[in-house]
Amino acid sequence: MHATKIAIIGTGTVGATTAYACMMRNITAELMLVDINEVGCRGELLDLSDALSFCTTSNIKQVSYKQAAQADIIIIAAGKSQKEGQARDELLAANQKVLKSIITELGTVNPQAIVIIITNPVDILTWYAQQLINLPVSQVFGSGTMLDSQRLRNLISQKIKVAEQSIHTYIIGEHGDMQVAALSAGRIAGVPLEQFLNIKELNRLAKEARQKVYEIISCKGCTCYGVASCVAALCEDIIFDQNRIVPVSCYSNQYKVCMSMPAVIGASGIKQIISPPLSSPEQSALLESIETLQSSLNKLKTEL
Ligand SMILES: NC(=O)c1ccc[n+]([C@@H]2O[C@H](COP(=O)([O-])OP(=O)(O)OC[C@H]3O[C@@H](n4cnc5c(N)ncnc54)[C@H](O)[C@@H]3O)[C@@H](O)[C@H]2O)c1
Repeated sequence: MHATKIAIIGTGTVGATTAYACMMRNITAELMLVDINEVGCRGELLDLSDALSFCTTSNIKQVSYKQAAQADIIIIAAGKSQKEGQARDELLAANQKVLKSIITELGTVNPQAIVIIITNPVDILTWYAQQLINLPVSQVFGSGTMLDSQRLRNLISQKIKVAEQSIHTYIIGEHGDMQVAALSAGRIAGVPLEQFLNIKELNRLAKEARQKVYEIISCKGCTCYGVASCVAALCEDIIFDQNRIVPVSCYSNQYKVCMSMPAVIGASGIKQIISPPLSSPEQSALLESIETLQSSLNKLKTEL
């Protein structure tokens, strides 16, 4: 059996932290690192290799784009990140160019590979990657609102003293300011969330989850641990064919955009997308979120 190969393209703050999170999760794998800044990438390689003795990762290498294209899981974390006061969609023009150049350099990708996009704006760039990479859309998805959903579960967990893993609620739609908390479908042991916290409080927590990114960026200039932990968990779901349900940015046949919906994730990528039942205000908010994504996509399409 060959060691699962995980390639990380873009080894800045998020990419390097993702490599470390994969190592600390003890996913037996070979990690392959690529960055346009080869010296910086070598620095990360050397630094990360000091942690090899403490995990089951068998090897870590700096590789070419062509070698990365043959990995089992390809994670793209390259590009400009949000600065204070900046929304994620303001990164579109710069990061579209970065993604295009990476996908061109990769060339033909391993037909069994799963590609995970982290680069923002993640929904638009996941759609873009799906157009350019020679893989079915079920094998190319974005980290989406997995992190936002985790933030919301954590806030609810702290309030009601129930473990996050037992709180089933999802943030869906755009990974951005137009995200939608599907609170009416939220359940704990089959009981609606609203029986634990009133809707005003739930909405307040959903807003806190949505805005957390801005506070982190204003305090330290970037975010990395949350998304890196999410992506390492996704790698585990893929490697062990877990069929876990995670909200990730995936292609919607109905709306022709990529946006987050709860999806069953396993060895072949996205196996099923599940639409939670929504209240009427949530449905309207989701349509608004989709319109925002469609208008960004139209902007991108005119520049293609
Ligand atoms: N989806 C999420 O939840 C989430 C969370 C945090 C950050 N992000 C996004 O992740 C991306 C990276 O953020 P960061 O904080 O690590 O930024 P960073 O500036 O620390 O690192 C970006 C890296 O990309 C590299 N790069 C640029 N062009 C490249 C190319 N053509 N090929 C290979 N590497 C290239 C740079 O050299 C740099 O090392 C940003 O777009 C950011 O918005 C997403």
